[in-house]
Formats: sequence, structure tokens, C-alpha cells
Amino acid sequence: MRNRKLFVKKQTAELSEKISQLNPNLHSTMKRKRTPTYLIKEKVATKYNILCHIYDIFGLLMESKARQRAIEIANIRNGEKVLEVAVGTGLNFVEILKRNPHGWNEGLDISPKMGKKARKRAEKTGLTNYNIRLGDSRNLPYADSAFDLIINEYMFDCSKRS
Ligand SMILES: C[S@@+](CC[C@H](N)C(=O)[O-])C[C@H]1O[C@@H](n2cnc3c(N)ncnc32)[C@H](O)[C@@H]1O
Repeated sequence: MRNRKLFVKKQTAELSEKISQLNPNLHSTMKRKRTPTYLIKEKVATKYNILCHIYDIFGLLMESKARQRAIEIANIRNGEKVLEVAVGTGLNFVEILKRNPHGWNEGLDISPKMGKKARKRAEKTGLTNYNIRLGDSRNLPYADSAFDLIINEYMFDCSKRS
């Protein structure tokens, strides 16, 4: 299997090289035809807008331990300015709120529906020292050094190609 993969990789590289030699312009056009970042962004948002209804079942069953570990490692100090990137449905955001009742807590997600769920979950804590907004991790809408701590789990696999 591994040999086959290596073979396919080698063939692809050779083919690519040949195309370059035959017609450099054609090759660069082909390269440019890869899905632009903004389409990937919309794809991810759409996917999570759909998944948001069932996400918690999966998220709680499969990812709780890792999420908890991320919170432990983050070692939030009450009073800090904390940002969670890709807040999802807020499963960890409520933990952040509980540990940082005197600080400021910001959550960001690319999917409006995931963000909406996170907001609902946060409301239930009764705390008000937070804000959850729509945004892209690749273009954070915050000033440099705006936060003491940034937390992020289970997002990078969504943005592989950008
Ligand atoms: C697997 S979920 C994880 C959610 C949350 N971190 C958790 O552990 O429950 C991935 C989340 O990342 C968000 N996301 C993916 N790419 C993003 C990006 N470029 N910027 C912001 N959020 C993104 C998705 O909308 C989704 O809510």
C-alpha cells in the first residue's frame, strides 16, 4: 500500500514536471485553478452550519477528554483576556467563562450557527463578560496583543488547504 502511494506520488511529480516543460503557462494556469480560499471558507461554514444540530453528541462522546486537557494546559488565571478561536457550540467556552469570571472572554467561529449555539450556551451561565463573534482564524479581527491567552482545539483539520 505504502509502495503504491509512493509510486503514485512519483508519477504525479513526473507528470507535473513534464507539463511544466511542455507548456509552463498551462501548468501555472492549472495551479491557479485550485479552489480559492474564500470557497473553502464558505464550505467549512456551511458544513458546520449543518453539523451544529448533532455536533454536541459527537463532541461530548469523542472529544471531551482532549477538550478538558486543553483547558488544563491553558491554565487560565481569573482576570485574563482570553480568546477561544473556533469556539464551536461553546462546549469549552463555558468552562473558560467559569474559570475567568473577572476577566474578558471572547469566542470566534466561522460558522454562524455554531456561534449561535455557543452564545445560547454561554447565556445559561448567567455571566456577561463575554462576546462571541463571527470570524475567520486566518484573519483575526483583533488588535495584536489584545489577549493574554488564546485557546483552540479541533480546528486545524478544517483548514488544511488554505
Ligand atoms: C470540530 S469543531 C470544534 C469546535 C470546538 N473547538 C470544540 O472543541 O468543541 C471545528 C470548529 O471550527 C470552526 N472553524 C473551522 N475553520 C475555522 C476558521 N478558519 N476560523 C474560525 N473557525 C473555524 C468550525 O466552524 C467549527 O465550529
